[in-house]
Amino acid sequence: MKITHSVSLSKHTSFRTGGNARFFVAVDSLDELKIVLARARSENLAYMILGEGTNVLASDEDFPGYVIRPMIRGVDFSDGIHIGINSDMSRGGIRGNEGEDGLVIAGAGEHWDDVVARTVSKNLSGLENLSSIPGSVGAAPVQNVGAYGVELKDVLEWVEVFDPKENATKILSCSDCRFGYRDSFFKSPAGRDLIIIRVAMKLIPNGRPNISYKDLANYFSADEGSPMKKSPTIAEVRKAVIQIRRVKLPDIKEYGTAGSFFKNLVVTDSKYEELAGKFPGLPSFPVEPVDSTALTAHGSKNGFKKIPLAWILDKVCKLNGTREGDVGVCETQPLALVNYGQATSAEVKNFAEKISDIVKEKTGLQIEWEVNLI
Ligand code: EPU
Repeated sequence: MKITHSVSLSKHTSFRTGGNARFFVAVDSLDELKIVLARARSENLAYMILGEGTNVLASDEDFPGYVIRPMIRGVDFSDGIHIGINSDMSRGGIRGNEGEDGLVIAGAGEHWDDVVARTVSKNLSGLENLSSIPGSVGAAPVQNVGAYGVELKDVLEWVEVFDPKENATKILSCSDCRFGYRDSFFKSPAGRDLIIIRVAMKLIPNGRPNISYKDLANYFSADEGSPMKKSPTIAEVRKAVIQIRRVKLPDIKEYGTAGSFFKNLVVTDSKYEELAGKFPGLPSFPVEPVDSTALTAHGSKNGFKKIPLAWILDKVCKLNGTREGDVGVCETQPLALVNYGQATSAEVKNFAEKISDIVKEKTGLQIEWEVNLI
């Protein structure tokens, strides 16, 4: 375990912004994590857990403590009998009877898309629509990552966490995680301190992929004679998702970005009717009112619709491709903000606030960040 001094967070966040961390340390086991936490405590310093930094906007101010990167590895394809949920995965490797019942247990430090690729190569269905999402396994439950009609909550079995307050590991079931749209218990005051160690997902061997999302349905319903099919394999769906994302979303290898910067909007049916009257063609999607607290702001717990903020940013606010200095709105996916060069987090934040003001002025709606400010 190597503790490095004065490390720029711009090197550890996909937005490529942020001040210096006084200390930066990657931990590859629970024991190492405990050592660093004890050290921070004894030195009376703060600490912060950071995955691959792909969904955060890091303050330009220096962080006066430890930034801890969990690198706990290992991907287990188990039949659920050979692997006890407290088994030590810190040294990585594959164990268990591969893929028998579709249980996959991955360490928090694994790269999310590597795990997805491996499940797809074993013909396990459930994660293929979540292909190509940047970031680590440990970050996935925090956001309840979702794309193309699937959310992590649809396949998650349990999450193993370390609770620094109790100095103990715990297992949280899927319902304990209280997943909502880009939301979970891990974002709440009661769950914020928990450190994710491993994530278990239940996939379906040779299952049938879900291609109901518009972009996927279109992709697979091409004209006769095309190589595309109506009943694609799991691997074909992964390939399609990768292609769709490549066309729409900015490439994090090329630009500073964190994917969708804002969340989609959830409004009451009556608010939707009012907006659709004003903005003909406004699309809507059904919504599961999983998180009623997030919905009460709109006045009721029943009868909601999700509306794509991308449509409002594009068709109503005409913001696609707009730019201020080095910060801009992605041309093909306006939910994504882009750092084209040397933008600071303060500049990104100002720009995002201007966008919120424009949306508020044109629609009366208050938008929320999907990205976490750290
Ligand atoms: N649209 C426009 N103009 C545009 C782009 C989109 O009008 O320039 C409209 C279209 O009507 C389109 C609709 O917006 O049908 C929705 O667009 P899209 O399917 O691209 O999805 P999204 O709602 O913009 C969400 C997620 C993405 C995820 C896609 C696919 C959020 C905040 N974003 O975007 O997640 O990949 O659905 O499921 O929920 C991320 O979280 O970082 C992310 C990229």
